[in-house]
Amino acid sequence: MPANRLLLILGAICAVTAVSLPASADTAATVAARSDFFHGLGKSFKGLREELKAPSPDLTLVRKYTGDLAAAAPKLPAQFPAGSGPQPGVKTEAKAEIWSDAAKFQQAAGALNTAAQALNTTAQGSDIAAIRTATGNLGQTCKTCHMSFRQENH
Ligand code: HEC
Repeated sequence: MPANRLLLILGAICAVTAVSLPASADTAATVAARSDFFHGLGKSFKGLREELKAPSPDLTLVRKYTGDLAAAAPKLPAQFPAGSGPQPGVKTEAKAEIWSDAAKFQQAAGALNTAAQALNTTAQGSDIAAIRTATGNLGQTCKTCHMSFRQENH
């Protein structure tokens, strides 16, 4: 058999193996770390919203949450390295569009970061109404991204 023919066959075998192999331990670890990341984000956001329901929210607590959100937001894109999308053996709600429509995903991540920094800046003051509005704006950026890039539109 000519060498180039053999290479073609070998290539085809490798391609098939690559799709049918279960996810690597690395991918599983990446997805688990991503889940932790979002749980942290979710917890801070929920805590903040709860505190803002109080007639006189505790601003020290509010600022702790907004500081955590502002610190976490820029780390979102790094949670989605190439190859960590939906595949056999991986439990993830990440949609393939994160990578196939990367510009739109980056834009959604950028919107989160902008809103999180604005919220944290606003929270350094004591205008509760303004902090509530900035929190609502941040919440919109979570929703917008989930609608396009997370399974089941949570
Ligand atoms: C740029 C896109 C994007 C933004 C912005 C975003 N998320 Fe998500 N979020 C995702 C994706 C994608 C997943 C699914 C990740 C997975 O399952 O691997 C997710 C998952 C989650 C989860 C579930 C984690 C789990 O493993 O069960 C929570 C909670 C969450 N996000 C909260 C938030 C909150 C709160 C905000 C806003 C403060 C937010 N997200 C902003 C894309 C985003």
